[in-house]
Amino acid sequence: MNTLPVDQVDLDQQDNSLVMPKGPLTAFLKNWDDEYEKSVINIDLFNPGLVSQLSEFQKQYFVKVFYHSRGHFSDLLWYLGNFAPDKEAKDIILHNISEEFNGDYQSHEQLYLDYARSVGVDLKNEFLENTYYTREMYEFNRSHLEWASQHDWDHCFSAFSAYERLDAIDYTFLSSIQSEEHVFFKIHRKAKHFEKTCGVLERIWERNSQAVEKAFSFIAKKQAAMWIDLSDSVFSCEK
Ligand SMILES: [Fe+2]
Ligand SMILES: [Fe+2]
Repeated sequence: MNTLPVDQVDLDQQDNSLVMPKGPLTAFLKNWDDEYEKSVINIDLFNPGLVSQLSEFQKQYFVKVFYHSRGHFSDLLWYLGNFAPDKEAKDIILHNISEEFNGDYQSHEQLYLDYARSVGVDLKNEFLENTYYTREMYEFNRSHLEWASQHDWDHCFSAFSAYERLDAIDYTFLSSIQSEEHVFFKIHRKAKHFEKTCGVLERIWERNSQAVEKAFSFIAKKQAAMWIDLSDSVFSCEK
């Protein structure tokens, strides 16, 4: 299997077909970004000074538990794909899954396992064993599925879009946890998954802006709560 050259990450992100949000949606998104950043900016895990004091054991704990924050998103994608109303939405979800497999290069899962190995953690069997799948992370993942099952498609797609928008923000905040940025993190910091959703999101915004607002609010609150909980557990675990 080919290893993704770091330079390729940047080339892969150049996609002229991407639609950028316009008008009032842009203002909403800017405000949402600002509010989300305010809600997480003071989390210890995003504080480079505090992160530099983490022990090896604590950093390894982070790698083990964070695996389950990102590793179960596929369940939501599968759920959404099965209930998507048209080919356009299904293709966006399929593209997202396809990017996870990463063509001729290592899948994102494999890249994460490489990253874990580089800090002394073997997660080869974690997908099967769920040894480090905490109750809190399970509830976090389940909450997305539960919410999707209780809301219509406009809400579901907006929630998916919000989740993708957080990649760039969260992976930038997380950068200090590594001594040198691993390609797994770089790919996600630079991913354009949110932009792929913008065309559909614009249309939902035009017919039902409340659905967008409600979904983005749900995702931001859940994500901030997840980070606070993960940060607390990393900093309080045995050194
Ligand atoms: Fe990924
Ligand atoms: Fe993504």
